[in-house]
Amino acid sequence: MAMTNSNNNKKFSFSFLVIAMNVFNSTLAGRPTYNVLSYGAKGDGGTDSTNAFLSAWAATCNSTKPSTMYVPQGKFLLRNVAFWGQTCKNTAIKVQIDGTLVAPSNYNVIGNTGCWIKFSRVNGVSISGGILDGRGTNLWACKTSGKSCPGGATTLGIYNSKNVEINKLTSLNSQLFHVIVYGSQNVRVQGVKITASGTSPNTDGIHIQGSSYVTVSSTKIATGDDCVSIGPGSTNLWIENVVCGPGHGISIGSLGWDKQEPGVQNVTVTTSTFIGTTNGLRVKTWARESNGFVKDVLFQHAVMKKVQNPILIDQNYCPHGSCPHQGSSVRISGINFLDVHGTSATQVAIKIDCSKNVPCSGIKLQDVNLEFKSEAVPSASAQALCSNAGGTSSGYMQPRGCL
Ligand SMILES: *[C@@H]1O[C@H](CO)[C@@H](O)[C@H](O)[C@H]1NC(C)=O
Ligand SMILES: *[C@@H]1O[C@H](CO)[C@@H](O)[C@H](O)[C@H]1NC(C)=O
Repeated sequence: MAMTNSNNNKKFSFSFLVIAMNVFNSTLAGRPTYNVLSYGAKGDGGTDSTNAFLSAWAATCNSTKPSTMYVPQGKFLLRNVAFWGQTCKNTAIKVQIDGTLVAPSNYNVIGNTGCWIKFSRVNGVSISGGILDGRGTNLWACKTSGKSCPGGATTLGIYNSKNVEINKLTSLNSQLFHVIVYGSQNVRVQGVKITASGTSPNTDGIHIQGSSYVTVSSTKIATGDDCVSIGPGSTNLWIENVVCGPGHGISIGSLGWDKQEPGVQNVTVTTSTFIGTTNGLRVKTWARESNGFVKDVLFQHAVMKKVQNPILIDQNYCPHGSCPHQGSSVRISGINFLDVHGTSATQVAIKIDCSKNVPCSGIKLQDVNLEFKSEAVPSASAQALCSNAGGTSSGYMQPRGCL
């Protein structure tokens, strides 16, 4: 259907368009558009629309021209669903969401499936707009109570894919991680908003693993675990303009769980703000034997507001005593902290705690200004602690550098 802009036809075209969008698939500017309503989806919040979404995806993916899968306003109930891309006939697919996708209210339905909404082996897909509501609160309560509960599902997963964009969408109350990028290349996450309670368990904002050329920008994350977490095998990442809090900060790790593990290399985290988080910029490795490594990391232009561990390298990470050798052999080198300022909520504002077996090298602290104020001990000031770390401190340093 072609849309006309002439004044006479405007009103007619507009209402016709609305009807067309609701009833038929349509073509906007020559772009085939597949509306989930045409495949039986109902935006009533209660009807299971999973199969309708899968049929709309099949048609969108089957288009030989750039195509759009369209989700209009309304609340669409989805079970766990995987959108596979290996047979798609074009590499410019848009998934435009104007409505809200809601997970089943009973967390058991998707709680053991790993991922709620999964894109797998796609190439050239942009996912825009909309709200993904994982309805995780009951599962968090179950986990917090110590009862036995399902592990939970990640809200949105991009697996083994390339050339993917996630734009301006909102993820609410995921059961587990909000977004995972796994085994993928060239993924851009921008203008995304992630919200869950600061006490919700394992609700990482964006987890990147085994992936390269992943960019996260202009994103606001408030959650119960890491705002961004970077797992083994991640290279060439760019993270810019993230506001994090509540949450556990931006973390590389935990690395070194496995003896054989791909490393993390070339990560930039720039121009980000941390508000009341339990960590700021962190590298953590399990105190276990591993051939993993981290190198060439630039953490710069960060603002800390009452952050508990603004600058942290922790190679002695080992909750639950699961570290037989009690020493990490993950090699950490070339980690740069430049222009980090604001307030620390703990006296130790800088902690570089490296492994005895394999000390850190090339750690650089430059222009760090972190203030600590204690009402109990007004004379206390911020401290830096370093162990088994080589490198340099330069520029303005408060607390004084420990390298
Ligand atoms: C895919 O498109 C072909 C024609 O190009 C058609 O024959 C086939 O039925 C379509 N499959 C689906 C799932 O739409
Ligand atoms: C590091 O990653 C960035 C993308 O984040 C890329 O532009 C740059 O070329 C990479 N540098 C090297 C040395 O590979």
